[in-house]
Amino acid sequence: QKGGYDYFMQKEIYDQPEALTNTVMPRLHNGLADFSADGISDDLFKDISRVIVTACGTAMHAGLVGRHLIESMVRIPVTVELSSEFRYMDPILDEHTLVVIVSQSGETADSLAALRLANERGSKTLSIVNVKGSSIARESDQVLYTHAGPEIAVASTKAFSVQCSGFYLIALKLAELSGKFTEAELSEYCKKFEEAIATVPEVLKMDSYIKDIAEKIKDTFSAFFLGRSLDYAIASEGSLKLKEISYVNSEAYNAGELKHGTISLVTEGVPIIAIATQDHVLPKIMANVEEVKARGAHVIMVTDKDMSDYEGVYDDLIQVPSVDDRFGTFGVTVALQLLAYHVTVFRGNDVDQPRNLAKSVTVE
Ligand code: F6R
Repeated sequence: QKGGYDYFMQKEIYDQPEALTNTVMPRLHNGLADFSADGISDDLFKDISRVIVTACGTAMHAGLVGRHLIESMVRIPVTVELSSEFRYMDPILDEHTLVVIVSQSGETADSLAALRLANERGSKTLSIVNVKGSSIARESDQVLYTHAGPEIAVASTKAFSVQCSGFYLIALKLAELSGKFTEAELSEYCKKFEEAIATVPEVLKMDSYIKDIAEKIKDTFSAFFLGRSLDYAIASEGSLKLKEISYVNSEAYNAGELKHGTISLVTEGVPIIAIATQDHVLPKIMANVEEVKARGAHVIMVTDKDMSDYEGVYDDLIQVPSVDDRFGTFGVTVALQLLAYHVTVFRGNDVDQPRNLAKSVTVE
């Protein structure tokens, strides 16, 4: 069942090129997103004044990626809410709100409850779900199935990548319907999207290189992930992956927040994993990296950017293939999954079944 891999998580990390291809390629036609085979008509995306994404854990992080894409491209306001908070916030919902529920299992109790509330209050609901026929899939107005195949390891890997790819498709659809993009621009987006997916096998080839870096930080008590904007979403997922399986006390921070508290936690040798996939915030994140480096942190840069101007500012570099700024999610995510995986193997933990965690959280 593990297909020759040591752990399901490892297999599932390696499944990603196929999972992404299966999820994305059938839905890209002639430079556009096409959901006709899913039975999703364009009407779902018309007449919406805002989007609310609700989910838990890793799936919520995919929502943060989605928010960045949709807001930056189509200027529709997007909020991302933890499903466990959603009901208690008494959310303002109407028929012009598209509520997107993201769930690998389709059975997460809080996400299901959030969906039911959105349905009750008359919003349009779209779920991004991996498990066919699951409760969330059945109760949503529309379902965009991810085609990751079964995910067995408790720590979600391939499901996250395909959930993100779902948002890249939705952003493309909204961009088309916004009328603000030319055909050439939309088809350029598709090309860059496909190019980014094609870098995933290249990142997988960096496995043993990443393992060597993991070994350097394997004994740490804590670690911090830094990023800005889209990179903060990626950092959040990287941090969750590391903490849930390795038990390293790991947190993700918006890099700009460092000075407002967190930097007091940075001491000699603490690993700081800094994410940089976007040119417009590169100088900013590198300024933060210099600050933590000056306080003795062990900085691991994970980036697709040219770092030649910044040599000496970091200790280790995980350089993934360069892609267009909007599409850095895929390669960097895979690198961070491999980092979390190897740290965990070095620490001798049960990779697939971390303590206290269940694959599907069906209680609130
Ligand atoms: C972390 C992880 C969890 C799930 C969360 C939601 O690796 O797997 O954080 O993402 O429990 O689960 P689903 O997506 O099934 O709703």
